[in-house]
Amino acid sequence: MKREIETINQIIDKRQSTFPKDYIRKEIPKRIIEQILENANKAPTHKLTEPWRFKVLQGDSKIRFGEFLQRKYKATQTAFLQKKYDSLKQKTEQADCIILVCMQRDATEKIPEWEEIAAVACAIQNMYLTCTAYEIGCYWSSPKLMPYFGEFLPFNQGEKCLGVFYMGYCDKETLRTKRNAVHLKTEWYK
Ligand SMILES: Cc1cc2nc3c(=O)[nH]c(=O)nc-3n(C[C@H](O)[C@H](O)[C@H](O)COP(=O)(O)O)c2cc1C
Repeated sequence: MKREIETINQIIDKRQSTFPKDYIRKEIPKRIIEQILENANKAPTHKLTEPWRFKVLQGDSKIRFGEFLQRKYKATQTAFLQKKYDSLKQKTEQADCIILVCMQRDATEKIPEWEEIAAVACAIQNMYLTCTAYEIGCYWSSPKLMPYFGEFLPFNQGEKCLGVFYMGYCDKETLRTKRNAVHLKTEWYK
């Protein structure tokens, strides 16, 4: 038990967002991607709706996704920035694997949408932690273009993308974010 608590504390402490510019060219084995998805699938889910859906992009599909983002950005932005435009494709080239993490609304809508969104967020946290344990860099991106993703891949009725999860190996330390102390956010009652 002591080892388990040390391990989970270390993994949570080590978890961070690592961006595609810091990824190296190294393939993530399929069995590892499958394990990341297995762990995502174990997230809590109210009334067992299991609302998370995953669209795994590798190889050509990943590159086509970058081109799609660029086209859509050009078509929708009023204040076009060349740097932003370029980065959309660069990120898809630098990442070894991209997972579009989606939420499938239960057809009977038996629980509020926010609970389904929260469940998907828990699944994404499991992905973050699993990547950390495998020493794979990753980050959750939520581009404004997400509502258009149904034009890139088929989406079911009631299915929405909530995140673009970029992954790639990273061989250096990158900047860590800090948190204000938890006691500032906590009230205790007896
Ligand atoms: C719901 C959600 C959406 C996010 N969307 C973006 C995003 O669009 N772009 C980005 O750079 N980071 C995004 N992030 C990652 C945060 O920027 C990151 O978690 C934060 O900077 C803290 O850094 P850390 O993950 O390394 O602790 C998102 C995180 C969450 C929880």
